Amino acid sequence: MRKLRVSFIFQESAVEFSIKSGSPEKQRTACVVVGVFESRKLSLPAELLDNAARGHLSELLRRGDMEGKAGNTLLLHKVPGAEADRILLVGLGKEREFREKEYRAAIAATVRTLNETGGFDGTIYLTELPVKKRDIAWRVRQAIIAVEETLYRFDRLKSKKDEVRRPLRKLTFCVERRGELAAAEQALREGQAIAAGMSLMKNLANLPGNLCTPTYLAEQARALAAEHGLAAEILGREEMEQLGMNTLLAVARGSHQPPQFIVLKYQGGKSGKGNDKPIVLVGKGVTFDTGGISLKPPPEMDEMKFDMSGAASVLAAIKAAALMKLPLNIIAVVPAVENMPGGSATRPGDIVTSMSGQTVEILNTDAEGRLILCDALTYVERFEPDCVIDVATLTGACVIALGHVVSGLLANDDGLARELLDAGNASWDRAWQLPLFEDYQEQLQSNFADLGNIGGRPAGTITAACFLSRFAKKYEWAHLDIAGTAYKSGKEKGSTGRPVPLLTHFLIERAAKVGAGGTASQ
Ligand code: BES
Ligand code: MN
Ligand code: ZN
Repeated sequence: MRKLRVSFIFQESAVEFSIKSGSPEKQRTACVVVGVFESRKLSLPAELLDNAARGHLSELLRRGDMEGKAGNTLLLHKVPGAEADRILLVGLGKEREFREKEYRAAIAATVRTLNETGGFDGTIYLTELPVKKRDIAWRVRQAIIAVEETLYRFDRLKSKKDEVRRPLRKLTFCVERRGELAAAEQALREGQAIAAGMSLMKNLANLPGNLCTPTYLAEQARALAAEHGLAAEILGREEMEQLGMNTLLAVARGSHQPPQFIVLKYQGGKSGKGNDKPIVLVGKGVTFDTGGISLKPPPEMDEMKFDMSGAASVLAAIKAAALMKLPLNIIAVVPAVENMPGGSATRPGDIVTSMSGQTVEILNTDAEGRLILCDALTYVERFEPDCVIDVATLTGACVIALGHVVSGLLANDDGLARELLDAGNASWDRAWQLPLFEDYQEQLQSNFADLGNIGGRPAGTITAACFLSRFAKKYEWAHLDIAGTAYKSGKEKGSTGRPVPLLTHFLIERAAKVGAGGTASQ
């Protein structure tokens, strides 16, 4: 059989973005994009165009060509009074209901239409639309994310790819006032960094388990390090044995794929400035989770290729930070393993000693995420972290509790939790906090070891976090359970790129706090 080669994981965006301020009727571009609210109400930029066109647009609306329903678009050629070749009207739905979700949907509809109609160059006025409580920076960042999300394809493993005849190449976002230009340009760079991170995460997570192995993740981490000047250190099985990472190794035992322990360091912080303690991001890197001897049932088991989404998200976040040249020190740590059954696999009831010295009774080999994370949490103590955030598709219970809308957040420090919740809200990649009360800890009691690796059916997400908390006592720590948010099932099956926006925004805010230079992007 021919070996599949998967390269160019780090392809950059196909679209060139820029920011501008100026009137819509004066734009010499292939296409000017303006919004229309339901029913038949022109947005402000659309009104300007209409004035220049002596009421041509309002006339069309009156005749019923466009209602302004969300998602509808109408492409017009050679509109009198306008310099652009075409005008694209985009339906926005009811003005009173125009919020975050609707804003992103309008950008997505724009991109789809431009891509289908050969409008390879567009000047978009939707960024001028008011979205309640969201400033120009938010609107620009979200516009870029929505564009990249709409254009994203994962077709490298298909023999036949849908080629777009004249794909979108250039997009300009408009701001109403010149005074907004600086903020918008800063947001443009941030949006591009977030989008680049999201696309890296998606490319890694969408890749199937036979190709995306722990070794592959390690190679990609090395490539990422070379590209962005990061320091990379990758520990193999023997080094992990020497360190006593026995809970991690217990997960890897059933697989022929060797485990890898990946450490990437980004040094953007200046020492002596009070910001030299690293922010440590730990990502669960189970490249495929069969459940092990506690084997999972067949339905949807293919989706367990996404069980390395946490790993992908922390690699993506450090890439985004490097692209923005944030003045921070950041370390991404990925314990990477495959969880398989087999003759030498860990059995339910086996007891192992973790790197911390605590003994763990592995009652269920399908609760493997916490077993690899706990040794990683002990390992990172050596960095004397400012804080540690782990990211993991950890529990099915989190999907039951919170669905696919928000990620679960648990923390041993309320300040850190608050920052992450705020970052989630600001980046529209939200999380919701669950309690980590001491009372839940007793569910982890084991008759034979210091603790068991499962806590029974009640509060499964909380007891998983309780397990991790036993290994995170030496620093401020937060845990993101992304089991419900990292990927979609069904017809739209695929990685979502979450929580890269949340993590990246958290880093941007941290950078703004430490360095008076702000996000120092160039
Ligand atoms: N990777 C799964 C969690 C998961 C489930 C993610 C569904 C996404 C969708 C994790 O390793 C797991 O199997 N967790 C078990 C824990 C249980 C055995 C205590 C679970 O949630 O069922
Ligand atoms: Mn599992
Ligand atoms: Zn898992």
